[in-house]
Amino acid sequence: MTEAILLVGGKGTRLRPLTVHTPKPMVPAAGVPFLTHQLARARAAGVEHVVLATSYLAEVFEPYFGDGSSLGLHLEYVTEEEPLGTGGALRNVASRLHAAPGDPVLVFNGDVLTGLDIASLVDTHRTTGADVSLHLTRVADPRAYGLVPTDEAGRVTAFLEKPQTPEEIVTDQINAGAYVFTRSVIDTIPNDRPVSVERETFPGLLADGAHLQGLLDSTYWLDLGTPHAFVRGSADLVLGRAPSPAVPGPRGEYLVLDTADVAPDAKLAGGTVIGARARVGSGAEVTGSTVLDGAVVEPGAQVRDSLIGTGARVGARTVLEGAVIGDHAAVGPDNELRDGVRIWCDSRIPAGAVRFSSDQ
Ligand code: GDD
Ligand code: MG
Repeated sequence: MTEAILLVGGKGTRLRPLTVHTPKPMVPAAGVPFLTHQLARARAAGVEHVVLATSYLAEVFEPYFGDGSSLGLHLEYVTEEEPLGTGGALRNVASRLHAAPGDPVLVFNGDVLTGLDIASLVDTHRTTGADVSLHLTRVADPRAYGLVPTDEAGRVTAFLEKPQTPEEIVTDQINAGAYVFTRSVIDTIPNDRPVSVERETFPGLLADGAHLQGLLDSTYWLDLGTPHAFVRGSADLVLGRAPSPAVPGPRGEYLVLDTADVAPDAKLAGGTVIGARARVGSGAEVTGSTVLDGAVVEPGAQVRDSLIGTGARVGARTVLEGAVIGDHAAVGPDNELRDGVRIWCDSRIPAGAVRFSSDQ
């Protein structure tokens, strides 16, 4: 096994609000662009060649990852002119694969943090002789995912992307966004239009009697599609709950990048990350949060489960809980922002302007 395709494009990905300008795969999680963790984990599982299937400008990725050699990989970039969907994106990079028709090719959604044993997914694929093998996980609320019921041997019996009705919720097993495709299956995806692997390819393969094999693996798994999940994932990397060879420092309650400046009496906990050139003032408490490069947390601020964007500022004594502060935004002193509030990039909140009350 030497090859993988990483899906990092799509319509929504760039806009879906972290309220930071950086495209999501490049937003730092535990101090490095999120994609680094996926690439490093693939490398550790023996992958040598990765094709990044994007629909943004490859300029976003290439200056950082280059040819991949710093990660021990051979990395290639393919940019779709218009997003081709998850299946169309695979077909679009098929010409870059070295795999023979019967060889396995790994495919990863680019926004998932997981401890999946990649080698065991490849093993499952080999031993069952499947056309496609899928990593499955269980979640409490499966509605935002692809539902994947299986028989007693783990063979997939249906694929129901984002079920709309209660009757469609037939299982809590979902598609965890990591697959092994037999290469020839990728070559059968139409190459002249957008195709969704979840809505078209998988249901079509099942209708044709193909063998889709599920591997239920209940290791760490998180879709980083929301800012809250992103911050959670970053914290779990720092705490060591989510495994990655790419975390730049020891596991523990916090990760402070070299050029950050944290006051000696500030309290950092819960997997907090303080980015390069960021500052945390005296008496501030930052818990389970991500403070991106160059951001400032002023003295006495209390920050919990929040994302503070690049170059943003959080005023003295301000309380943040479950908040997202966009890049270069400034929240003045003595504010209280809670419950999923998003402060858009570059905006200004004056001193003492916002209080929170549930009126309970
Ligand atoms: N290159 C390219 N082109 N990539 C794409 C495109 C595209 O047109 N559309 C989506 N992607 C990439 C996204 O960047 C992401 O990494 C991955 O494909 C999945 O797309 P999402 O838009 O994040 O889908 P989702 O999270 O709603 O659902 C998917 O992931 C779930 C697990 O997190 C599905 O695969 C579900 O079945 C699955 O349960
Ligand atoms: Mg997703």
